[in-house]
Amino acid sequence: MRMVDLISKKRNGDELTKQEIDFVIKGYTNGDIPDYQMSAFAMAIYFQDMTTSERVHLTMAMVESGDQIDLSDIEGIKVDKHSTGGVGDTTTLILAPLVASVGVPVAKMSGRGLGHTGGTVDKLESIKGFEVELDSEKFNELVNKNKVAVVGQSGNLTPADKKLYGLRDVTGTVNSIPLIASSIMSKKIASGADAIVLDVKIGSGAFMKNLEDAKELAQAMVQIGNGAGRNTIAVISDMNQPLGFAIGNALEVKEAIDTLRGNGPADLHELCLTLGSQMVYLAGKAKTIEEAREKLENVIETGAAIEKFKTFITSQGGDASVVDDPSKLPTAAYTFEVKVKEDGFVSEIIADEIGIAASILGAGRTTKDSVIDLAVGIMLNKKVGEKVSTGDTLATIHSNQELVTDVIEKVYNSYKISKKVVEPNPLVYDIIH
Ligand code: URA
Ligand code: CA
Repeated sequence: MRMVDLISKKRNGDELTKQEIDFVIKGYTNGDIPDYQMSAFAMAIYFQDMTTSERVHLTMAMVESGDQIDLSDIEGIKVDKHSTGGVGDTTTLILAPLVASVGVPVAKMSGRGLGHTGGTVDKLESIKGFEVELDSEKFNELVNKNKVAVVGQSGNLTPADKKLYGLRDVTGTVNSIPLIASSIMSKKIASGADAIVLDVKIGSGAFMKNLEDAKELAQAMVQIGNGAGRNTIAVISDMNQPLGFAIGNALEVKEAIDTLRGNGPADLHELCLTLGSQMVYLAGKAKTIEEAREKLENVIETGAAIEKFKTFITSQGGDASVVDDPSKLPTAAYTFEVKVKEDGFVSEIIADEIGIAASILGAGRTTKDSVIDLAVGIMLNKKVGEKVSTGDTLATIHSNQELVTDVIEKVYNSYKISKKVVEPNPLVYDIIH
């Protein structure tokens, strides 16, 4: 087999076989196939697309390019959740203890990654003593005992995807449905999930800017998941404003605590119930989505969900007293209020811009080696659709620097104020099976 022939075959729009796709991914991972040939191949996919079976073969070839996590020592159907990205997305922190408290095993592996705020692992580390470096035996034991554990990413998962994603980034081939879908799904499948719930975001703060594209991506990922023997469901949700009020690490932990007690922001609460009921259903812990939702509402009401969060923290060495006393979380030295300068209605909060403002404060990593400031971030006070008057507080900035004029300005500018009444977008647009 020669790479040049496979590039031509894809360029002409013909369907590649499993053997051919395996050849490309193996050869690219071990260095036999150079970047220039792989770039041409990615561009051919960009223009010619891939059939469902090609997409499944590509995904599985990337899964097999590296280590795969074996969760078979954990009892039950392991359901993983993945969000295609957004700002202030606190859902994992909430969903892990929430669905665990109705008996769904949550064996979560989470990276530190780059982003506007830290990943789930960073957020959890704002709890004193919390340890995410667990060996696999301890991890399995904790999930079997408590139904929930979170471990930092280790091992060499999907090296083919890492290499290809880097190449796509500099060759104009990121924005291709088959390439995005296989990239995301390969990582989920390699992490050992039996079933997967995807949260595909639409809006200014997301990869997909409109419903049509988001649906296409969601369908592509659901088909790959099901084709690879993993029951997969996708929820399409709104990211035309950040989710919840908090953007920042310790601030989001506090928001997760509030939500697990039933006192969280309405949008975050609702999205967690939507995603959570799909997880409970896929795990076989409820016969219908409605029954799953009732179970989740019930554990929030009885306090079982917040108790599960405490158990989860304690069993990974953390100080669970922060749950009853969140003032023990890292706190920033200064707060600044961003004020409304004209009367009207909030029509949009550009999520990306708020995310950048949080990252200027130090809430996220700009390079692999940056140190995160767990205390800083932004608390939104007004959300889309709300009526505002001059002098109201739009948002509060939590900072460890005394002078943050640029951040105040950025947050102010991310709020769009309209003179007319504004109907907020739906939170959930569609659910793809
Ligand atoms: N996220 C990924 O992991 N891969 C892509 O290709 C795009 C977004
Ligand atoms: Ca949030």
